[in-house]
Amino acid sequence: MTPEDLKSLIRTIPDFPKPGILFRDVTTLIGHGTGFASATAMLADHARKAGAQAIAGIEARGFIFGAAVAARLGLPFVPVRKPGKLPVPVLAMDYALEYGTDTLEVDPEAVVEGHIVVLIDDLIATGGTAHAAVKLLRRAGGVVNKGLFVIDLPDLGGADRLRGEDLSVEALME
Ligand code: PRP
Ligand code: HPA
Repeated sequence: MTPEDLKSLIRTIPDFPKPGILFRDVTTLIGHGTGFASATAMLADHARKAGAQAIAGIEARGFIFGAAVAARLGLPFVPVRKPGKLPVPVLAMDYALEYGTDTLEVDPEAVVEGHIVVLIDDLIATGGTAHAAVKLLRRAGGVVNKGLFVIDLPDLGGADRLRGEDLSVEALME
């Protein structure tokens, strides 16, 4: 599948979750067997080239792609979780979202000190979510050198913001 084929599998919903937001929905991509396999293979290729020793994914949609990539590469998966889900003392960080605020949490023991951790999410918009995840994974001891996304919304500036944090950023489509 070409990147254009993958793009055609993304569904766009106006005014979700709030008026004025044009929501790019990956449900239709993951609901297409060949499309999902192809997206996962492309992300895995980028992660392998970055020297990944672990894959981190952001709850919830980043788990879908991140876990598939980790399993494909035979690497550990580090969940970056929404608040109150992990049963151990966590590293936590609040962040601003395109539509609201939230908190992310990481189990510091899920990251091996000095290991290269590649971060995966379905989409980068303002970059607030990914930025918080990178900070947490670095605090946990990971060397986070790459952020991988299925979709980049470049007008919202998130990818450039992450590049300013010494991270290389790739997306399968804009
Ligand atoms: C969405 C998306 C990214 C984030 C991108 O997640 O999956 O994680 O927002 O926005 P940003 O770049 O402006 O921070 P959401 O918080 O909606 O959670 P979900 O995956 O649980 O639906
Ligand atoms: N689609 C899906 N998730 C999002 C979006 C979007 O357009 N913006 C922020 N998170």
